[in-house]
Amino acid sequence: MDDRIISVNFNIDDDEPEQTLRPLTLADFTGQEKAKENLAIFMEAAKNRKEALDHVLLYGPPGLGKTTLSNIIANEMGTHIKITSGPAIERPGDMAAILNSLSEGDILFVDEIHRLNRMIEEILYPAMEDFAIDIVIGKGPGARSVRLNLPHFTLVGATTRIGLLTAPLRDRFGVVLHLEPYSVGELARIIMRSADVSGIFIDKKGAEEIARRSRGTPRIANRLLRRVRDFAEVRFDGKITEDVAKMSLDLLDVDKMGLDLIDRKMLLSIMDKFGGGPVGAETLAVSINEERETIEDVYEPYLIQLGYIQRTPRGRVATPLCYKHFGRKPQGEQMELE
Ligand SMILES: Nc1ncnc2c1ncn2[C@@H]1O[C@H](COP(=O)(O)OP(=O)(O)OP(=O)(O)O)[C@@H](O)[C@H]1O
Ligand SMILES: [Mg+2]
Repeated sequence: MDDRIISVNFNIDDDEPEQTLRPLTLADFTGQEKAKENLAIFMEAAKNRKEALDHVLLYGPPGLGKTTLSNIIANEMGTHIKITSGPAIERPGDMAAILNSLSEGDILFVDEIHRLNRMIEEILYPAMEDFAIDIVIGKGPGARSVRLNLPHFTLVGATTRIGLLTAPLRDRFGVVLHLEPYSVGELARIIMRSADVSGIFIDKKGAEEIARRSRGTPRIANRLLRRVRDFAEVRFDGKITEDVAKMSLDLLDVDKMGLDLIDRKMLLSIMDKFGGGPVGAETLAVSINEERETIEDVYEPYLIQLGYIQRTPRGRVATPLCYKHFGRKPQGEQMELE
């Protein structure tokens, strides 16, 4: 691990391969052109002024590179990063202690920042705005509040659910970057790079086949690459070609569009149990035995991106494209969408 990376309550994914596959510079980070371009400008401006970078909020579905980007920011700014997450901080005192341990220009990365509790969030307001925290000393009538100055630091918050952030917290971020699903071309480049780093032999067509089935997500792309490698080594000669990738992914139950068993269960449920919808997220979740949050954060964004479901005020609706994916004819209300 990089010696500038100090972990505080590091309880987020510590998947070993993920650590080694993380690009360390912005130049090595594929895709997210808009976010990258903005970030590069803000970082350069801050560096030229010898100031800390403004607070940054990264949001988007899981596995798109929020943690990776926060490490890149620290690396490019040449500063230290402290890593923690919303649910890991239980008491206001913990947050005060973390803030107090920062040095000038440090990055404080708070993953799942929407899960910070309200009392802890309130400590962040003056910390972000005035670089100060108010500490109450003593108890009862003799208690007094003391203002403690902090060094100028950069808070980098990451969230999969920007809607759950309170307005006062959201408004204190100067830079808000939305990460979008990756294109097949971008994912193929990420796969080629990961293969290179891990000593896996793969050709371009093989990488593209895995990319097409990775739901726009680098984490899934890297995971599928590892699984396909296993098949390639045991069943074939170790090389990942288009055919090897296709056969392996079919065996893994990842279909041509990257849908897995749960995606298919969810779409079939909308079509078969709810007549194509609209069906509310809660009802849908119960019908397939999943958490509503998982459906909304993990499954739905990709299905919406594919155009297989639509979110309407009355609930989720299966689109004609969805029916087509399953080789069916759209029916009822769905016809109107065509
Ligand atoms: N643009 C990219 N280029 C190359 N690899 C990437 C890129 N984005 C993400 N990855 C890889 O994908 C994996 C997941 O990325 P990361 O952990 O940063 O996602 P995340 O957005 O923080 O996810 P979560 O919301 O689950 O915390 C990492 O192994 C990382 O190396
Ligand atoms: Mg992360």
